[in-house]
Amino acid sequence: MKFIVLLICNPYYSYVLITLFCVYSFDCYLVTNYKRFAIFIDLGGKMIEKIEEYARLNNIPIMQKDAMEFLCNFINNNNINTILEIGSAIGYSSIKMALVNKDIKITTIEKDIDRYNIAINNVELFNLTNQITLLNEDALTTNLDDKFDLIFIDASKSHNIDFFNKYKNNLNEKGYIITDNLSFHNLVENPSLIKTKNQRNLVNKIKKYIDFLDKNEEFDTKYIPLGDKISISVRKCLDE
Ligand SMILES: C[S@@+](CC[C@H](N)C(=O)[O-])C[C@H]1O[C@@H](n2cnc3c(N)ncnc32)[C@H](O)[C@@H]1O
Repeated sequence: MKFIVLLICNPYYSYVLITLFCVYSFDCYLVTNYKRFAIFIDLGGKMIEKIEEYARLNNIPIMQKDAMEFLCNFINNNNINTILEIGSAIGYSSIKMALVNKDIKITTIEKDIDRYNIAINNVELFNLTNQITLLNEDALTTNLDDKFDLIFIDASKSHNIDFFNKYKNNLNEKGYIITDNLSFHNLVENPSLIKTKNQRNLVNKIKKYIDFLDKNEEFDTKYIPLGDKISISVRKCLDE
C-alpha cells in the first residue's frame, strides 16, 4: 500500500508508470493490429523476402527477381491499371505488381488449393485485398467478362497457347500479353542439357508456343532475356 501511495505521489515514479503503460498499450496495439502494421514495421521488404524464402524452401516456382523488376517497371511505364494473372502460386508476383501503384487491380487464378490459401494469407498480410482478387479455379475453364490492360501468363507451360487464345478476348484493345519461362532454365536454347522425358516434352511445348507467337497474325511479340525469358505481345496495328 505504502509503495502504491509513493508511486502515485512521487512525480518521477508517475512518469515512469505512465511511460510503461504507454509502451505496454502500444505493444498490445501493434500485436492486435499486426497485419496492418507489419508492413510498416519491417517496411514490406522483409515480408517479401520471407515469401521468396518460403518459395525457395518449398520448391514453389516464383518469378525471378530481375524479370519481376522489369515487369513492375513495365506496369509503371505503360500506365497499366488492370491485370489478369494466370498462375498465382503463393501470391508473390501479384503482391509485387499491386505494390507498384495503389490504383492497380489484379485478378489472379490459381488451381492448387494449398497455394491459393497461402496466397490469400499473404495478400491479407500486405493489406492488398482491395487490389487483388484471387480465384481458386482451373484457368482453362474459368470464364471472365472483364477486360484487362495486361494479361500475365505464368501457369502450366504446356497450356500457354490455350491460355493465350482463351484470354486474348479479355484483353483491352491496346493491352499486352506477357508470358514467363520461355527459356525453361536454358533448356530451350540448350537441348543437350535435357535429362528427362518430361523436360523434353515441356521444351517442345515451349518451342511450339514461341513458334505460335512468331507466326501469329494478330499479335506482334518481342522477347526479353531476363529471368527465365519473357515475351511481350501486342495486337498488330492494322492501319500500318
Ligand atoms: C510459376 S507458378 C506462378 C508463380 C507466380 N506467378 C509468381 O511469380 O509468384 C505457376 C502456378 O500456376 C498454377 N497453375 C498451373 N496450371 C494452372 C491452371 N490451369 N489454372 C490455374 N493455375 C494453374 C500452378 O499451380 C502454379 O502454382
